Amino acid sequence: MRNRTHEPYRFLLLLLLISFFLINLATSEIQNDLERGSSLSVEDDSDLITSPDGSFTCGFHNAGGNDYWFSIWFTSSTDRTVVWTANRERPVNGKGSKLSLRRNGIMVLTDFDGKVVWESNTTSTEAHRAELLNTGNLVLKDIHGMILWQSFAYPTDTLLPNQVFTKSSRLIAAIRNGSYATGYYSFYFDNNNAMRLFYDGPEISSIYWPSPDLDMYQNSRTNYNSSRIAVLDDTGRFLSSDQFQFSASDVGSGVKRRLTMDYDGNLRLYSLNSSSGSWSVSWTALPQPCNVHGLCGRNGICTYTPGPKCSCPPGYEASDPSDWNQGCRPTFIRTCLDFQVKFVEVLHTDYYGFDLNFSYGAISVEACGDLCLGDCRCEAFSYRITGSGGRCYTKSALFNGVQTLSFPGSIFLKLPTTVEASETRVLLGSNAVCESSAAEVLLGSPTIRRVRWVYLYSFALAIGVIEAFVIVSGWWFLFRKHGVPSTVEDGYRMISSQFRRFTYAEIKKATNNFKVELGRGGSGVVYKGVLADERAVAVKRLSDLFQGEQEFWAEVSTIGKINHMNLVRMWGFCSEGRHRLLVYEYIEKSSLDKHLFTSNFLGWKERFNIALRTAKGLAYLHHECLEWIIHCDVKPENLLLDGEFEPKIADFGLAKLSQRGGPDIEFTRIRGTKGYMAPEWALNLPITAKVDVYSFGVVILEMVKGIRLSNWAVEDAEQQESELTRFVRIVKIKIQCGEDSWLEDIVDPRLDGKFSRNQALTLVEIGLFCVEEDRSKRPTMDSVVQLLLESEPESEIRSPNKLRLHLRSD
Ligand SMILES: *[C@@H]1O[C@H](CO)[C@@H](O)[C@H](O)[C@H]1NC(C)=O
Ligand SMILES: *[C@@H]1O[C@H](CO)[C@@H](O)[C@H](O)[C@H]1NC(C)=O
Ligand SMILES: *[C@@H]1O[C@H](CO)[C@@H](O)[C@H](O)[C@H]1NC(C)=O
Ligand SMILES: *[C@@H]1O[C@H](CO)[C@@H](O)[C@H](O)[C@H]1NC(C)=O
Ligand SMILES: *[C@@H]1O[C@H](CO)[C@@H](O)[C@H](O)[C@H]1NC(C)=O
Repeated sequence: MRNRTHEPYRFLLLLLLISFFLINLATSEIQNDLERGSSLSVEDDSDLITSPDGSFTCGFHNAGGNDYWFSIWFTSSTDRTVVWTANRERPVNGKGSKLSLRRNGIMVLTDFDGKVVWESNTTSTEAHRAELLNTGNLVLKDIHGMILWQSFAYPTDTLLPNQVFTKSSRLIAAIRNGSYATGYYSFYFDNNNAMRLFYDGPEISSIYWPSPDLDMYQNSRTNYNSSRIAVLDDTGRFLSSDQFQFSASDVGSGVKRRLTMDYDGNLRLYSLNSSSGSWSVSWTALPQPCNVHGLCGRNGICTYTPGPKCSCPPGYEASDPSDWNQGCRPTFIRTCLDFQVKFVEVLHTDYYGFDLNFSYGAISVEACGDLCLGDCRCEAFSYRITGSGGRCYTKSALFNGVQTLSFPGSIFLKLPTTVEASETRVLLGSNAVCESSAAEVLLGSPTIRRVRWVYLYSFALAIGVIEAFVIVSGWWFLFRKHGVPSTVEDGYRMISSQFRRFTYAEIKKATNNFKVELGRGGSGVVYKGVLADERAVAVKRLSDLFQGEQEFWAEVSTIGKINHMNLVRMWGFCSEGRHRLLVYEYIEKSSLDKHLFTSNFLGWKERFNIALRTAKGLAYLHHECLEWIIHCDVKPENLLLDGEFEPKIADFGLAKLSQRGGPDIEFTRIRGTKGYMAPEWALNLPITAKVDVYSFGVVILEMVKGIRLSNWAVEDAEQQESELTRFVRIVKIKIQCGEDSWLEDIVDPRLDGKFSRNQALTLVEIGLFCVEEDRSKRPTMDSVVQLLLESEPESEIRSPNKLRLHLRSD
């Protein structure tokens, strides 16, 4: 009986138990967090974390195919709108991939093979669980609820309301619609404390928002507040510390929003329509999307039809119609030697940037065209009429093209006359720089000149190959026959044992306590001295403490072994405590600059000999000595002259001494002298022997011209065309124009015509080759030596015709 009375209670208890279990089962389907030691699997569609209010979901996401991303998205948008992705660049496999909060406190994303694709930096922390907050922030918390890591600190392309944008944040657009991989456009705080949109494409990079044509103040920004913080609040208002602000068109609370750096380079604020689940744009950074840079690639033009669309101008075709970043390529070959050019006008169109020259006022469209014709680099010019006259810009490259009816001007493309173009206006070009009487000559001469240049290239190449072969086989022969050669003619003498280490006291005595200063340069001060055996020496005291004793010793003894009649001989060194000194042979006459740029100038014969001998010295350093050496600072100041005006190159090997400053970092410090430095120093390219070839080119052109070409012309500060660039440009034009007397025009007038035409021509041509921007086009020092050796002096002046015939018959 007693038992019977308890029966209903038992039943109730059972019911309670069952229902509790059922409720538990139901809630475990909607998961708000991930405990330490557990994981989410890519195979299980229900393995998701949802924010408590259901706004955001986090889990594996797939966009077709077998590629999966671990992402956070808006639960209620119809097409899954992803706001954050852990593995943008590296999708994981649809089988076996996992997101785990491991026992050591780190959150990792692993691929099918267990390889870690992404991880949070929370190893060995008290990370207890991962939670998705109502804001869309995925956080890792410890037992006390403190946040150790959060996805808000690592945005991808989207900023959510209340997500603080800081100086370390950067929204980077996806590469294309539908992709998650990072692309070229980004939104960030620059070093100047201002928010920017930046295009960093394969060919060019530039800031395009706020308007690059206006300054900070005109763009209503400030750079005084260095806190670099911005935030979008719940009501749709955005405020940044640089005073940039905006409000959503539907400003007010209760709307879900996101600020996204879109793949098309525009930054947009979107609002979600909660009933339809679709997004609408409630603010845009660039109302005119064609103002985004890089959209249509090189030469491409962005047009509104009515949406933005890319197209190619006349004479150009799309490089890859499926990828406009590749832009348009010309359907013709652009050379500086084509004179038969025309200008084709494209209305209401302009390209941004890459201006070669700019002039305004009373300039006509024809005069603007002449400017473009006068500069080989000019690919087009932009011309517009304004209130105060015309505005003319010549362009060296065509990027960021925009066609819009509101633009009151045109772009005029420089095209060969052979290119068909059905555009509105065609201007016919004639080279403005050449005399009109030269017109007939022009028709024929370019081909001849081209033949000659090509010929010179292949000749130089062939000589290089042959010489390399001769040297290799020659050395092999010598070594095989005699072991180490005892003497080699023409300056290649073998190492003698004179090289030694000096004490500081010896040097102090020799220089009479550093009394007579001979000169000073970047690497140190040079003093005159006399050794105990009465040899005159130049002692260089190195200003930087280059390196440790052992390395210094090793390096210096390598330099000490180098012996060539056109290299300044090093006789020894001193390394004591902090003192590092180098002892050189003393050269009687001073450096080349003192015999070139002063009234005490050298004659032609000496100049040519100096060019040849210097080339030999450099060729020896580059190709023949035991350890190949790049000089890095070839200039007239470093070419010393002895009693017979034989040049000796000074300061070689020093680049090597200073380069060992850090462990294995080659040439971290820029060496060399402005004006003689090859462009690759500025471009951060690897430094090769071709930097010396470039500097050598500048020096020999200076020897021909008799003045410094390494100065920077200051007359047009904006343009920064160097004396050298201008000289090269003028010479090329003169050659193109086939002027008979062009050589006489450029050779040092102080020589009074007393020079060998043949040799001058060789020097100019080698010089122009050596200063090519593209280092692969520069010759090697070996081939330079060969070309110089070929060039015999002669008193008789040949006519240009004879010269060409002679070359063609070769
Ligand atoms: C993770 O990295 C961020 C930024 O590098 C740093 O601020 C944070 O303290 C790191 N967290 C841990 C737990 O190391
Ligand atoms: C991106 O592509 C989808 C289809 O894949 C299309 O519906 C959407 O309109 C595209 N977005 C833009 C901005 O072009
Ligand atoms: C800098 O900007 C922040 C964020 O907008 C603001 O809170 C702060 O007061 C500003 N500081 C100054 C000195 O204006
Ligand atoms: C949201 O979408 C619904 C259905 O498409 C539409 O009727 C409504 O006007 C939209 N609301 C807003 C604010 O755009
Ligand atoms: C720019 O054009 C002017 C003529 O308008 C010319 O005098 C000047 O030398 C040019 N500058 C350059 C760098 O080409």
